[in-house]
Amino acid sequence: MATTTSTTTITEKTEHLTLAFDEKAHEGYKYSRYLPVYDEETKFEPTPPFEFTDRGHAADKAKPHLLATGDPNVVVTKLTPLIGTEIRGLQLSQLTDEQKNELALLIAERGVVVFRDQDFKDIGPERQKAFGEHFGRLHVHPVGAHVDRFLEFHNIYLGPDNLYRAQRSSTRLTTTGYHSDVSYEHQPPGITLLTLLSVPSSGGDTVWVSQVAAYERLSEPIKKLLEGLRAEHSGFPQAENARRDGKFVRREPVKSEHPIVRVHPVTGKKALFINPGFTKRIIGLKDEESDALLQLLFKHISQSQDIQVRVKWDDRTVSLWDNRVTAHTAISDYDVHSPEEGGLRHGFRITTLAEKPVGVDGLESVW
Ligand SMILES: [Fe+2]
Repeated sequence: MATTTSTTTITEKTEHLTLAFDEKAHEGYKYSRYLPVYDEETKFEPTPPFEFTDRGHAADKAKPHLLATGDPNVVVTKLTPLIGTEIRGLQLSQLTDEQKNELALLIAERGVVVFRDQDFKDIGPERQKAFGEHFGRLHVHPVGAHVDRFLEFHNIYLGPDNLYRAQRSSTRLTTTGYHSDVSYEHQPPGITLLTLLSVPSSGGDTVWVSQVAAYERLSEPIKKLLEGLRAEHSGFPQAENARRDGKFVRREPVKSEHPIVRVHPVTGKKALFINPGFTKRIIGLKDEESDALLQLLFKHISQSQDIQVRVKWDDRTVSLWDNRVTAHTAISDYDVHSPEEGGLRHGFRITTLAEKPVGVDGLESVW
């Protein structure tokens, strides 16, 4: 594995860090302070239950402050009929709280909102973190690399000196893997923000699927069946893989049993809440029944391109999505070793935690 792990002390950096990159490969990189590190000492207790109020509740449904400002520079485009909206002409860094609340509602309605030509990556980690905190309590990834001094920034990093995802492609036919971010948490994420600081010249797109549309496509008898069931989501394999690879587990893994059909607290829409990344079994079914039903649903969400949107990144794009109504996958289709098509895909994810999932007729998560 080409990943460099070094305990070299770098004077400007926090002590007790392991670097998850090759320092020499990034000399002069403008965003070097965002390169991936592992804090070796910070451990977290299990996340306690907490109150969550979705910012979308406070929003005017017509979104007059965000979308109807009369500014001709603001261009709002539906990327597909069922999922994805692109916005140009608005800076996330300048949004008022009223606009952010309307944005929370828009993300819930459209699944993912893509902002182009943003200055967000240059406003500094303190302001970036504060932006995320408007939408909810920030998640600290239990195993992932982060940004020095900002454990809430989950590092996204695929370059010649970190072949994590490319390695997987040697044992599987595809690197795609649909998931809802850390859905095993007892109160799993609502809105996630991802911005990229460096992008390959081609490739590295992200695909999102609408779990609302995926639910609505199902037949009435299957909808009814699923509405009464919970499925287990597990963080254990992720933690075991991290330990196997010599990485750090800063919070012990958890499992949750979430309703398979989840109701969004603001829109009231029903959405499938299962994903091949973390959902392991359907509670109360025989193994063969659970396997067959999950495979049917996983195939449905991963193959239904008519309920998906694929977004090409550049290094001034910021995407925000609602994990309660979507699943997504990275597309790791480029050669990190090729000077023409390769390069570094690097960015950070800020993930906000939301409510304890609630299903149809008040079916609640348990753990
Ligand atoms: Fe993700």
